Amino acid sequence: MSSKNCYQLWGGCFEESASAVLRRLNDSLDVDSRLFREDIQGSRAWAQELHRSNHLTDETYEAIIQGLTKVEQDIEKELSENGRLLDGEEDIHSVVECRLRKYSGDAALHLHTARSRNDQSATDTRLWMSSSAQHLRKELIQLIKVLVNRAEKEIDIIAPGYTHLQRAQPVRWSHFLLSYAWSLKDDVSRLDDQQNRLSTCPLGSGAIAGCALPIDRHRLADSLGFKNVTPNSMFAVGSRDHIVEFLNWVALCGLHLSRLSEDLIIYSSQEFGFVQISDKFSTGSSLMPQKRNPDGLELIRGAASVLLGDSFSFSCTLKGLPSTYNKDLQVDKELLFKSHDRLLNCLKVMSGTLDTMEVNGDKAVKLLEPGMLATDLAHALVRKGVPFRKAHHIVGTVLRRASALGVDLKNLPYHEYVEI
Ligand code: ARG
Repeated sequence: MSSKNCYQLWGGCFEESASAVLRRLNDSLDVDSRLFREDIQGSRAWAQELHRSNHLTDETYEAIIQGLTKVEQDIEKELSENGRLLDGEEDIHSVVECRLRKYSGDAALHLHTARSRNDQSATDTRLWMSSSAQHLRKELIQLIKVLVNRAEKEIDIIAPGYTHLQRAQPVRWSHFLLSYAWSLKDDVSRLDDQQNRLSTCPLGSGAIAGCALPIDRHRLADSLGFKNVTPNSMFAVGSRDHIVEFLNWVALCGLHLSRLSEDLIIYSSQEFGFVQISDKFSTGSSLMPQKRNPDGLELIRGAASVLLGDSFSFSCTLKGLPSTYNKDLQVDKELLFKSHDRLLNCLKVMSGTLDTMEVNGDKAVKLLEPGMLATDLAHALVRKGVPFRKAHHIVGTVLRRASALGVDLKNLPYHEYVEI
């Protein structure tokens, strides 16, 4: 017994208990308590399937279901009051089972029949990911809407477009905004693409070799809202490819936000100055009273690096692992939750920043200079029948002449054009 009423989930054949330092490394309750709803949802479905397949009596089943509801209420309350669970158990699966004993008595001892924490934790995580992906999706759509609304309202603002951060051609400011909306729209579709693979139910795979008792895995998967069952039990407990996919996705979406941040940081600097970030989304300096710093955007840019690092580090974790479950995999949830929360915050800050910033169209136009129409000039010659390569060369000569005379294209005398 690890505490009153409870059997530890393992340890019957151990004479000594684990050392305190190992417990510190091993225990994951502070991270995986976040999965308590999914764990209880999975346990309800598991009990139901055992019952339907005649492995649990009506009485035991009823006791388990009623107990699980009480356990859920208790955990919900304690987490909202204390922010963490104070049980001495190692993870959320142990906590739920241990607490169930209090409410369901010996019926609780039947819940883990033919189940392993390997298929259990894989199931909990997939359930959590499916619903969390929808939150991210909603936030992403909101951000796209902010971009599209601005693009519509500010359609008449013309701003410099840059390549290599050198003035390239004038563009509509809306065109710039929508370039990000399109990247983010692809992010939405990439997120949706993951759902079918994610929606496969590992429960019933046991520790590695499948379920020892006859059950209907399709019915079980269906009761949890999964579209399908995982087709191979070793794959079910050992694969974390869906997490790699998700972390890579998060990192790519973060990368898009980071590039947008960088553009806005540049455009809001005094040297460019046609964007002003609102007070709500900037901060000041403790020393220099005039400063208005785009901290929110800088934090998004910084967060994107961490997202990339975390996705990479998880792939490194998987790379050398032998097949099926190894404890290294426990870190999956830590990285998953952190990356999810980080991206969610970034999406919200980006939406707020874009929604409240000011764009000064007059200042944007002032940054345009006639040289940015050089390409248009070449195309004007093309329209008169000059081959493009030649037109490009002629305009280059014009630019060289203008520079030698110290004027821009607008002020180069007409006879110079004619001569060239
Ligand atoms: N806390 C563990 C995890 O999330 C649960 C699985 C434990 N399985 C085991 N064979 N020790 O990875």
